[in-house]
Amino acid sequence: MTAIIKAREIHKSYKMGKSTLDVLRGVDLSVKKGEFLVIVGASGSGKSTLLHILGALDQPTKGSVEFDGIRLNTLWGRKLDRFRNHTVGFVFQFYHLLNELSVLENVLAPAMASTGTLGWLTVRKRTINRAEKLLEQFGLKDRLGHKPYELSGGERQRTALARALINQPQVLLADEPTGNLDSRTGSGILESLSTLHQAGQTIVMVTHDERIAGRAGRVIRLTDGRVQEI
Ligand SMILES: Nc1ncnc2c1ncn2[C@@H]1O[C@H](COP(=O)(O)OP(=O)(O)OP(=O)(O)O)[C@@H](O)[C@H]1O
Ligand SMILES: [Mg+2]
Repeated sequence: MTAIIKAREIHKSYKMGKSTLDVLRGVDLSVKKGEFLVIVGASGSGKSTLLHILGALDQPTKGSVEFDGIRLNTLWGRKLDRFRNHTVGFVFQFYHLLNELSVLENVLAPAMASTGTLGWLTVRKRTINRAEKLLEQFGLKDRLGHKPYELSGGERQRTALARALINQPQVLLADEPTGNLDSRTGSGILESLSTLHQAGQTIVMVTHDERIAGRAGRVIRLTDGRVQEI
């Protein structure tokens, strides 16, 4: 299988006054098309930092990320927006849903943002259909009009998952999607991810939970700022 993501010698340091915090110290990582890769590591080991770099939400201090043959540091302006909005889908640990929008509107937001008014009018019906299908698939058919604060944690996370998938991203990046859910709800999210993976979705997931890690394809651990295959 071909690699869709190739990260080479990724370093990330933060300057804190006079000292420097070296979080990533030469991460090499390839993700193959269709793979379900899980990243584990202690709190503070740099898992979120790495995921943000893979999704072009942050830049490495040194090193390069190639996504489907394109170096992320050559993207800017609209191309960068498109990459973040279309090519990858990001699920944040704490959902980051917009409270003033309904479940359906939250899921539609990335699609609306990427089309502009005229474009939106032409794809509106199709996109709403797709959003409703995704939400139905995630058991939220009867929650379309709810606001995020009217949902349970698991329902919020599934809404965030649907939002990350609305633009049919090549890779889904999920940062502890089960992190603050009880184990049953977490299992439900994991099952949704497994189903997506079986349908061909490439997934990179960060988790604390070793049991969850064991159920995915390949697991790597971040230790001392570098990757360890396990
Ligand atoms: N903007 C920042 N400025 C300074 N230090 C930062 C910044 N962001 C992260 N860090 C530090 O970098 C380290 C790695 O952070 P990161 O969020 O990637 O860890 P993590 O592995 O995701 O941890 P957790 O499992 O707790 O989510 C931490 O020690 C954190 O304090
Ligand atoms: Mg984190």
